[in-house]
Amino acid sequence: MSTLEAATSTTTRQDTAWQVCIQPDCRSTYGIDEILVACPKCGNLLDIGYDWDRLEVPSSLSEFEARWSTRRNPLDFSGVWRFRNLLPFAPEASIVTIGEGQTILRESNLISRYVGLNDSNVLLQYEGLNPSGSFKDNGMTAASTHARMVGAKFAACASTGNTSASLAIYSSAAQLFNALVFVGTGKIAFGKLSQALDYGAHTLQIAGDFDDALKQVREVCQREKIYLCNSVNPFRLEGQKTIMFRVLEALNWQPPDWIVVPGGNLGNSSAFGKAFLELKDLGLIDRVPRLAVINAAGANTLHQLYNERSVRWNDGRTDDATIDGFFAQMDAENRRASTLATAIEINRPVNLKKCLRALDACHGVVRQVSDQEILDAKAQIGAGGFGCEPASAASVAGAKLLREEGIIAPSDQVVCILTGHQLKDPNATVAYHSSTNGEIDSKLAAHGIDSVTFANGPVVVENELDRILDVIRSL
Ligand code: F0G
Repeated sequence: MSTLEAATSTTTRQDTAWQVCIQPDCRSTYGIDEILVACPKCGNLLDIGYDWDRLEVPSSLSEFEARWSTRRNPLDFSGVWRFRNLLPFAPEASIVTIGEGQTILRESNLISRYVGLNDSNVLLQYEGLNPSGSFKDNGMTAASTHARMVGAKFAACASTGNTSASLAIYSSAAQLFNALVFVGTGKIAFGKLSQALDYGAHTLQIAGDFDDALKQVREVCQREKIYLCNSVNPFRLEGQKTIMFRVLEALNWQPPDWIVVPGGNLGNSSAFGKAFLELKDLGLIDRVPRLAVINAAGANTLHQLYNERSVRWNDGRTDDATIDGFFAQMDAENRRASTLATAIEINRPVNLKKCLRALDACHGVVRQVSDQEILDAKAQIGAGGFGCEPASAASVAGAKLLREEGIIAPSDQVVCILTGHQLKDPNATVAYHSSTNGEIDSKLAAHGIDSVTFANGPVVVENELDRILDVIRSL
């Protein structure tokens, strides 16, 4: 039996995996059979910890390549579970997979030039290719697996749309639990809402935004003993680590110089940081890439705390008075997140502390970009042969900004994560391309868009062959 086979044939994980509080002064541990979204002792976030010494870990990441030849096994086909030795909390029989993680890392000369880097130095990690069209499936397969392990019959989430689409698809495909999703009225792009409805999720539209919906769903889950699938669920983030494993795989296991990711609830950035910390500790990589987390300017809590108030991980001793004071003032002023990048329209990122830890581990930076910068970057991403929703384009807009500031060098290799598919939010795309510099769509204008440099609007033409030919010949 090969090393990797031995590692995954275990039927119980109780003794080699546990839940552990991230707070260094607490570090309380709990069994993986418990349903927790915060440390019962101190209220901080939980991680999944492993007894790596007793688990079979590959001696080199390239050992995972052996699984390419056994892709008929659904666990080896999955872009998440083929790395199961690096998230070993589940017995194989419990794993819920729908073929997630068949995503690609591709270079783009057009985007490299747009960002200001040497040709092919920007690589786009296209997570929109997941079954529900966003990176969330990486996490939802892991959360669904844990839900199955604990016998959950109902699973819930609050969402700006993608988490709900992902939970809904896993619920309908696996038929193991019912999905209950909370979304803010008018706060979710139509493509995403249509998914939750079509996959049969019980969908509650709350008269509020994501922050309101999350507050409510947390309360509901606690009272009704419903399994919560937001990224406060530490099992979900285990699945999201694999986005980084696939990036490394595509780069022949060599870390790039930069990972650039949009920041909303900060689950991805947190998961990426944990992934690199673990790989480094296990001796599987010798250096970690730098991490850039990009907020939309209209939902910029991380930027505010990190850049304006210098809040840092500080070995787990975060400046909670400053954080609490920031949120108290936000509430007092009733300040609400507002951005066309609705997926990251979040003012209370629940994974803030884990993200601070990731920024510390990956020598990170935080930036904010305007909706104008996001939509322009998005149009260039489309023109370059990809296609993403607005929030995803924050990564490219952020890389461009960091290049302009001289923080990213022209020769750096930069991986931007495209978190969600273009078809999630066709309204924003059509509104941009249908606008002209003289006449901006009113919804875009309301978010400060005053130019559409890369608009590719439809040509309106009469239903007459000669007129149509005139247009074509003038191209
Ligand atoms: N990009 C997209 C397309 C998203 O849907 C989200 C989050 C993010 C980026 C931000 O990622 O929270 O890990 O920092 N969407 C959540 C949802 C909140 O409900 O679908 P994060």
